[in-house]
Formats: sequence, C-alpha cells, structure tokens
Amino acid sequence: MKAFNDLADFSNEEIGALIELAGRLDAHPEPEALKGKVLSLLFLSPSLRTLASFQAAMVRLGGGSFVISPDMSIHGLEVRDGIVMDGVAAEHIREAVPVIASYGDAIGIRAFADRKKIENDLAETRFSALTELIDTPYINMESAMNHPCQSLADWKTMDDHNIPADGGKFVLSWAYHPKALPLAVPSATLHMAAKRGMDVTVLRPEGFELPAPIMQKAIFAAEDSGGSVTETSDRNEAMEGAQVIYAKSWSSTRHYGDKLADQKLREQHLDWCVDEPWFDNAKDDCRFMHCLPVRRGVVVSDQILDGPRSIVIPEARNRMLAQMAVLHQMLGAKS
Ligand code: CP
Repeated sequence: MKAFNDLADFSNEEIGALIELAGRLDAHPEPEALKGKVLSLLFLSPSLRTLASFQAAMVRLGGGSFVISPDMSIHGLEVRDGIVMDGVAAEHIREAVPVIASYGDAIGIRAFADRKKIENDLAETRFSALTELIDTPYINMESAMNHPCQSLADWKTMDDHNIPADGGKFVLSWAYHPKALPLAVPSATLHMAAKRGMDVTVLRPEGFELPAPIMQKAIFAAEDSGGSVTETSDRNEAMEGAQVIYAKSWSSTRHYGDKLADQKLREQHLDWCVDEPWFDNAKDDCRFMHCLPVRRGVVVSDQILDGPRSIVIPEARNRMLAQMAVLHQMLGAKS
C-alpha cells in the first residue's frame, strides 16, 4: 500500500480485509510485526486521538514513531510558496517535509483546510502540496475534506455493534458548535456510510448543505453498494427508523470562509444539540456516534453521551486498531 488517503481508493473487499486484520491484531497481538520500522508523524493541526493512537499502534506492532508539530520547539515553519523568508519562520515546509519523511518508512500527515476558498479545499490543494514533496508511503491523518482513518474505524465500529450494512439507516446530523469547523469528517463519514451500503440521510439546517461534489461522491458510492443518500432539514423525517445518528458540526457552505456570516447563521440553531427526544421515532437501539472531541451540552447531552446509546469510546479505540491494520499492510509485515 503506497498511500492511505481516501476509502474511495479501496474496494469494499479490501476494506473488509483491513477490518478483519484490525480485529485479528487485537485478539492475537503481533509485537514484532514492524520491528525496526519508523513512522514519521507530521501534525500541522491539533489532535489527541490521532496523535496518541498512531504512536500506540506503532509500539504495539514493535516499531517506533516520532512527532513533529509547530507547537514543539522547532524552527518556525513557512508554508507559503514564493515568499522571501525575512520574517519569523526560519524553515520552509518544502525542506522540512522531505527531511521528516526521509527519517521514516512511512509518514502520516495532518493538515486541516485553509477554509478560505471552498474550491481549493475541495481540490485538497494544501494536502497535495505536501504529499507532492515526498516519495515515502503516506497516510492522510485528516485533510481538508477527508479523514480515512476515522472512517475505517467507524466502519469497524458499526460492524462490531452489528449495525447492518445493507439497508441500515444512518443519519449524519449537523450539530451546533460555537466555532465553524472543517468539512473533513462529515464528508468522509457520508461517503463511508454510503459505500458501506447504508441508507444515509444528511440532516442539516438550511445553509449547511454539504458541497455538491461531496454529495455526488457519496451518491456514486451508494449506487455501487446498493445504499442511498438523501438530505433534509426535518429531524422527525430523518430520524424515522434510524439505527445510527452520527453527530458533527461543520461550517456553513453558504458562507464558507466568512466567519461572521457563518456565526450569525449558526447561532440561529443553538437547539441542534442531540438529546433523547431526537430518538422518539428512531429504532429502540439507535446508537450515537461522534469522532470526538465533542462539546458536552452543546453538540450532545450528557444523558446521551453517558448512556447506552453512545459508542464513542469503542469508536475511538478502533482508531488504533484500524491504523494498526493500515500500518501492517503499508509497512510490509507478513500476514
Ligand atoms: N477524531 C479525531 O481525529 O480526533 P483528534 O482530532 O483528537 O485526533
């Protein structure tokens, strides 16, 4: 495997094999599988789970890793092209990235969206500019519009909890958050659930529609898998018969890059906090998922997060297991 960048690059059979491998590595650890292998981890955006789970994954497989992020005691990093570097930054990303990559057998990169022009973010301009600098196998640890490691873990989590793939009803719901957040997780999640063969409903207020290319990609995936994709702002309609609600906040696509206009619009939807009444016409055992971090009492109530519907902790643990499977395949361990 040369890159783990997008679940769309893999067949459902290949994804199934990765999930099976993740389960096997959990049940039957292979503490020497990646002996002597090194994973470079470049975090240009913050993290808890991704940062910790990749390091834990490498240790559990007998390899090692190192982390570089702008918060560390490194030279200030310049990311702009064609600039005279007479300011604070002493090192350009064009040297830093290939150097970091050269110390490892594979590299994981996290670089969130610029969130200025949606065309650039949809084209993954920032992430591609980084991966073009290296020949090393790489893993997308979250880019402008993708989070494949989260999606693989989410797929496994639904398998683990016997949530049906074919015909299972999956609601991806916008939730209120005081800040305008990236589109990576909702975009990747929508595609993942459609590719898994589920009937997916995107529940969002007006002005928070996902971009047309993101919807279209999911519709194509659903056509292949036998699933479906719809969208609505009607909560009762969306939650009818739902087996999973996956909550996530994201920025307004109507006001992309315009913080004030986005804030004005989102503040009209403070009541989009997932709580028990949301589940009135869902399946009795409808589950709650979220990629974390999550704001209690803002995105979701304590009652849901602490109650039996929530599977967010096994979902987060599956990040480590899913990534162990990806690393095992990418770094050439014998299966
Ligand atoms: N879900 C997720 O990627 O978490 P972090 O941002 O903490 O890595």
